[in-house]
Amino acid sequence: MSVTTATKSPFTAEQEAVLLRWKNEYPYPNMGLVEALRSVQDWNRRMTPECVARVAEIFELPFNRVWGVATFFPTFTQWKTGRKRVGLCHGLSCWLAGSDKMEKRLEETLGVPEKTCTADGEYSWESMECLGACEQGPALLVNDRLVGAATEETVAKLKESK
Ligand code: FES
Repeated sequence: MSVTTATKSPFTAEQEAVLLRWKNEYPYPNMGLVEALRSVQDWNRRMTPECVARVAEIFELPFNRVWGVATFFPTFTQWKTGRKRVGLCHGLSCWLAGSDKMEKRLEETLGVPEKTCTADGEYSWESMECLGACEQGPALLVNDRLVGAATEETVAKLKESK
C-alpha cells in the first residue's frame, strides 16, 4: 500500500522505507508501531511532533494515538539523548548499594545535568527504573550494555570506554 506525504517528511527516503516496512511487517499495521518509533529514536535520538506526525501518517493512525505511545515508554524521549546514553538505575536494590552517590559523579564526569546532552552530542545520562540486575547493583546501562556493580571509578572511566 502506498502512503502519500501530506506534509514534508522529516525522514530520508531510506528512513521512510524502513518505517513502511515496519507498518507492513505484521498483520495489523499498528503492531509494528513501537518498532517504528524505536527506529525514529535511534535516528533522531528523540521524538519530535513532526516525526510523530509523519509516523502517524504512514501508519494511518491519529496523531494523538501515536504521540501517546511515543511519550509512554521511557525509551522514547523528547529531549535529545547522547550517542552514548547512560542509564543509572534508581531502583531500591541499587539505591541500597549506593547508586545515589553516582548521580553527582555522573553529572561531574559528563559535565551535564540529567537528561541533557553534552555539547558534542556524545553523552547523556538519566535515572532509570529497575534494569533487572538487582543482584549486581548499582547497575548502569550504557546504550545496550549492562554494567553491574558500578562504582564511582566506573563512572569516572565512562569517557575512556568505547
Ligand atoms: S534495582 Fe537496580 S537493577 Fe533492579
